[in-house]
Amino acid sequence: MTQEPSEAFHDILRGVAALTRNPVAADIARLYGKGAPVDLSIAVNHKQIASKQWLVETLAETLPRPDGPVWVLGAWYGVLGALLLEEPQLAISEVVSLDIDPGCAIVAETLNHRHVTAKRFRAITADMTGLDFAAQERRPGLVINTSCEHLDDVPGWLATLPAGLPLLLQSNDYFREPDHRSCVASLEAFQEQANLSETWFTGALPTKNYTRFMLIGAR
Ligand SMILES: C[S@@+](CC[C@H](N)C(=O)[O-])C[C@H]1O[C@@H](n2cnc3c(N)ncnc32)[C@H](O)[C@@H]1O
Repeated sequence: MTQEPSEAFHDILRGVAALTRNPVAADIARLYGKGAPVDLSIAVNHKQIASKQWLVETLAETLPRPDGPVWVLGAWYGVLGALLLEEPQLAISEVVSLDIDPGCAIVAETLNHRHVTAKRFRAITADMTGLDFAAQERRPGLVINTSCEHLDDVPGWLATLPAGLPLLLQSNDYFREPDHRSCVASLEAFQEQANLSETWFTGALPTKNYTRFMLIGAR
């Protein structure tokens, strides 16, 4: 379901993009002008952007040059891909943005239209739990999943991934959200759930309603 853009709101978005000279803000304004899905306002709200900026900044300090494409799983409308490809402190050749919802890919590619043209971004529709990374032409340099809380079985999914694969995982303790199936009560519980062979970063970002947890390391 898409929402007719409000002229006033579209103008404000374009004004903010001009004021900040931020290319991602301009791409969000452009996407909104084309008729955005109703939940785009959630995907780009201040909490979502803050958690993605935390991710991008931490990645720039931990693994700034992934050796291969970066796969973003449960990527929703591709906002994280846009931020990753815009960050000058990261050297990322390509982002593959994957979501099980068939409505996401077209929105993600519209948002990332500049990177689609440059062949640095593509969006695909698939269930992350059925992926075979060994069958990919290029092994990923990093797999990101900021939607761990949406999976039924996080250890079961992790067990399907190649050993040693670099991973960035986020989850949270927002148990009362109905779509959340694998929330964790603490950073320690998330580390136990993920059981990484190497850990390069662990951190927690408290927000008003919940705390978001992040791990970077190797499967
Ligand atoms: C609400 S969104 C993003 C939440 C996440 N905490 C974030 O901030 O990025 C969760 C996304 O995960 C997707 N998703 C859930 N299960 C999936 C699966 N098995 N494979 C791929 N995508 C999945 C949903 O379709 C949805 O777009």
